[in-house]
Amino acid sequence: MLDHRFHERVETLRVPEMGTDCLAPMLYWLVRMVRPQRVLEIGAGYTTPFIAQALADNVAAGDAERTVLAAGDPAAELPLAHPDYYEQPHEPRLVCLDRMTDPTSSAPRVLAVLEQLGLTPVCEVLEGDLRSSAQDVRERLGPIDFAWVDVWDTLAFFRSFWDLVDPAGGVLALHWLLTYPQGRAILRYIESLRALEGGRLELTSIVEPHKFAQNSLTLVRRVAAYVDPHDLRPLGTANDPVGTLRI
Ligand SMILES: C[S@@+](CC[C@H](N)C(=O)[O-])C[C@H]1O[C@@H](n2cnc3c(N)ncnc32)[C@H](O)[C@@H]1O
Repeated sequence: MLDHRFHERVETLRVPEMGTDCLAPMLYWLVRMVRPQRVLEIGAGYTTPFIAQALADNVAAGDAERTVLAAGDPAAELPLAHPDYYEQPHEPRLVCLDRMTDPTSSAPRVLAVLEQLGLTPVCEVLEGDLRSSAQDVRERLGPIDFAWVDVWDTLAFFRSFWDLVDPAGGVLALHWLLTYPQGRAILRYIESLRALEGGRLELTSIVEPHKFAQNSLTLVRRVAAYVDPHDLRPLGTANDPVGTLRI
């Protein structure tokens, strides 16, 4: 939960120049929505405990929802996902990779804050360079459901990890690719990946217009192998609002 205690502890990691004041809570809610199990963060700091807390809260939410489903109250069940979802084990983990060489970054202090917040069971902080740590990350994480990339070398992320991103709905959140030429070149590269995916790649960017730098978020969703979950929806219920599935 993003309560007072949480905010008090993570404030020590906030570096205003990193531009993640709004992004960190946004990442928390993105991770709460997507409920990823295998998460990679490249470029640790203020954002790290928000992602780790979201993973821990997803576990608690899933447990509470399982209890509701087990009680068998149909009114309570309707807003929940298809029961099959809850049959899968949910044991999320986050790997945070940072080379720990930036003197302005709060990355070296992240582990201590994660320990204070009791978040180390879902999270591992790995010291290393993105370019030379691919094998280490692969062994620790395997396929990626969600990645947050907050380093200049976003292209190195694509070189090392794109094949690991789940083609059935894996989400990437990429910091600051708008508003400068090198970033826009990376965006064009991502657009070129869409052709390789047979057009099945979703891409959108959001800009913070009041800022000159560190002022955008790009979201990529890989859907080449995605199957729309409407096929799993129970028929004739509030989960089937237009009734088309009864035809
Ligand atoms: C912009 S800061 C991250 C800010 C952080 N997400 C926050 O909200 O405070 C970038 C971080 O990435 C790390 N970094 C930069 N290039 C890297 C690379 N090639 N491999 C690994 N870490 C890198 C730096 O050490 C720094 O901690």
